Parts: sequence; C-alpha cells; structure tokens
Amino acid sequence: MAIISDNSDLLTGKSNENRKKNPIIKPETIEYDNTFENNIRPKDFDSYIGQSALKETLKVILESAKKRGKPLDHMLFYGPPGLGKTTIAGVIASQMGVDIKITSAPALERPRDIIGILMSLKGGEILFIDEIHRLNKVAEEILYPAMEDFTLDMTTGKSQTAKTLRVPLPKFTLIGATTKAGELSSPLRDRFGMIHRLEFYSVEELAKVVQRTAKILDINVTEEGAVAIGKRSRGTPRIANRLVKRVADFAIVKYDGLIDEKVANESLDILKIDEFGLDNTDRALLNLIIDKYDGGPVGIETIAAALSEDVRTIEDVCEPYLLQAGLIQRTPRGRKVSPEGYRHLGKSIGSEQTKLF
Ligand code: ADE
Repeated sequence: MAIISDNSDLLTGKSNENRKKNPIIKPETIEYDNTFENNIRPKDFDSYIGQSALKETLKVILESAKKRGKPLDHMLFYGPPGLGKTTIAGVIASQMGVDIKITSAPALERPRDIIGILMSLKGGEILFIDEIHRLNKVAEEILYPAMEDFTLDMTTGKSQTAKTLRVPLPKFTLIGATTKAGELSSPLRDRFGMIHRLEFYSVEELAKVVQRTAKILDINVTEEGAVAIGKRSRGTPRIANRLVKRVADFAIVKYDGLIDEKVANESLDILKIDEFGLDNTDRALLNLIIDKYDGGPVGIETIAAALSEDVRTIEDVCEPYLLQAGLIQRTPRGRKVSPEGYRHLGKSIGSEQTKLF
C-alpha cells in the first residue's frame, strides 16, 4: 500500500489535522508508510470494527465488481476526521487485491501533480484523495473525464494552434474522503457512484478498537479498562488508538503494566482528557463562550481568534464532537453553549441565558 507518511503522535489529532491540510509531502514522494497508524489498520472487513451499514453495502459492491470483472465505482466517504475513511479504503483495496495510492487534495496543487498520479495508476488500482473538497478547479477539471471515461484531456500549444490530446487511462477507482461534503462542487459529487457518511463510534465499538490495538501492540488491558478508554475517545477510533498508547505508558511506568479501569481513568485524568473525552482546547472553547460571551451565540472567527486556533481546526476537529455530544449548538448567529455544556463544566446558566433556552 502506498501511503503518504503521517507520523503525528498527538493525543487528539488536532495538530495532525492541521499538518494534513498543509502537507509538505508531494505525490512524487509517495512511499510505503509503516507508522503506528498504518501498522494497526485492519485489512479486512471482519477486523474493521463499527460502520456496519457501510461494511454490508461494500461487501455486496465488491462481490458484484469481482463477479462482473469490472473496476469498482468511484466512492466518496465523508464525516469528521479519524473515523476510518482512509482505513476503509485500505480494506477495500486489500479485499479487491489491488494497490492503493493515497494522496491529499492540497498536495495536488499543480496540474502535473494530478496528471502524474493518474498516469502512474495501473488497471483496477485505487486512487484515494483525502480532503477532496480542497481540490482546485484545474485539478477537478482534469478529474472529470478521468473519472467518467478514463481519459486524460491534455492541451498542447497556445491559443489558435492549441491541440487537445486524449490519453487513455487504465480503469481505476477514485475514493474521495472529506470532512465537508457540502463544499464539494456538484459536478464532482455527481461523478461518485456511492456516497457514504461515516458515523461516530459507540463506546462498545471503541472498547473493541482499544482491545484490538492493545493486542497488536502487546499491551495488557482489561475489558473495563478498554471501556474506560473508549468512553473518553470522542466517538473516534483514531483517538482511542492514541489514548491506548498513552495510557500504556502510564501503566508501565506508574503501575504494574496492566490497564484496568482505575489505571485508565487515573492516567487520562493526568492527561487532562475528561470523562466526555474533552481536552484543554475543547474546555477552553466552552469556557470562552460562557465567560466572555454569556454562553453565545458568538461567531466562529471570534472564537478561533480568542483561542489562537485557526477556524478550520475549530470547525473540523473540535466542533463535530461537541455538537454530537450536545455540548454546543450551531445557530445562524454563531455558536452557543447548551445547558448540557454548562452542566459538564459545573457552571450555572446566567439569567440572560435561561431566558434563551
Ligand atoms: N483502527 C482505526 N479504525 C478502526 C476500526 N474501525 N476497526 C479496527 N481498528 C481500527
């Protein structure tokens, strides 16, 4: 599997998300990646936990493509970061017995980036483009005939002497991933044969992810320990996988090596990951809205500036889980902390706010 390196070891993945948006790695430097995240990635549907509706649909699509001897339809996966969009693409590739080339839209800045990667594909291969909503117009227009007719339309020469050259491409499958399906242009969206939203994971599913990862990494964890980590993983397996490693460090250094419920909870308390899985940035966001803006509504730009974070990180990484957990609400006039958000921080709702709810 050819994968662009992604080495971040941070707990919540926020800086990692930032880094992905400004990748320094270009497609021509694609290389095999055996980082932690890729070593523990499941390779088949049975070891891929959760997203059962998606798995069932995919099994049928894959079997049908195999029986017909045809390449898979192009697919678009969307949803918050860390829910396994890249992972499921890897499972699809290994189940089809084909290679996958992984890149990200910001790395496809120049026409030759996308042309180069398309021309390097072999029949049946999968091209995975992360953050596909960030593809520029030129790259998008190169992709349209590539997706539809497996051809590359190239123009040579200038104005009156310009000629269009149609270069055939091997039949490939494009898998796009995005946290923002709404930002995809409709001509691009319409060219995907399947569009699926990935859901947050339940605590039980996350506990299974923790147990699976712990086994691969030779870490001892009890069922209750796995559930305790699952509870604080914000519905996100990528976070569960990071937390299990961090808690394992505490278990080895401060305890007897076994992660049970007490070790998990005490370690996560020290790491300042609370029982909802919120970290310092999430709590700072809630406190800011409550303390400085009377619980909101307040605009996202104001929040980002006050927290010295960029708007994208707040929108793509912090907010989806805070919204899903019902701690904040999005209104046309900005973000508001919900009564549940106040309760979570042990704060009482001011008189102005009481009137609003
Ligand atoms: N690691 C990350 N996502 C996973 C999943 N859905 N199942 C198993 N392991 C994972």
